[in-house]
Amino acid sequence: MKVAPSLLSCDFAKIGEEIIRVDKAGADLIHLDVMDGHFVPNLTIGPAVISSVRKYTKLPFDVHLMIEHPLDYIDAFADAGADIITFHIEAKSDIEDTINKIKSRGLKPGLVIKPKTPAEAVYPYLDKLYMVLVMTVEPGFGGQSFMADMLPKVTAIKQECKRRGLDVLVEADGGISEKTVGVASAAGVDISVSGTGVFKADDTEAAIRILREAK
Ligand code: DX5
Ligand code: ZN
Repeated sequence: MKVAPSLLSCDFAKIGEEIIRVDKAGADLIHLDVMDGHFVPNLTIGPAVISSVRKYTKLPFDVHLMIEHPLDYIDAFADAGADIITFHIEAKSDIEDTINKIKSRGLKPGLVIKPKTPAEAVYPYLDKLYMVLVMTVEPGFGGQSFMADMLPKVTAIKQECKRRGLDVLVEADGGISEKTVGVASAAGVDISVSGTGVFKADDTEAAIRILREAK
């Protein structure tokens, strides 16, 4: 299990120090949640912040776009230093065009599905993807309860990839902590995003280690 702390739950006044803290504590990726107030009812950070914090770590930046028109902003996030860009299948941009644009910038593309979207929605794109992100909460806010009923989608996507001989990572995002990571791992999750579970833990290193060692 790889661990991607979500900066949504960090202290934004010290975002650079927070990145260094989770890097030293064993994070595999840094997950950055971008929200536009339209696709989800919340606003967060954009390319300017991502670009200014890029210097604090060499870990890959896993940029999760919760915005209505992702295609229009791929260049901006690529310039800012994203390594993986995931966008929602429910957003308004053309899906193939957006995947191709991400690849044309030399970055790794991922598709995200909200809780009400079935696993099968991503099947037509699997051969073009680096990652599928299965939301285990409704996107928009940190600190929500884990939806265990999303896990059959993870297993279905992993099985479909195996059947077709594809090596696509499955990431889960929302409500992942030491209490829920076990079932996520058993379902086939490769990367766990965790915001409150990492940033609000008393011992960051222990929190990341527990997530990583989940069986
Ligand atoms: C929610 C975001 C998540 C969020 C996870 O829309 O995509 O990345 O930060 O936070 P926790 O781990 O607190 O559920
Ligand atoms: Zn996220």
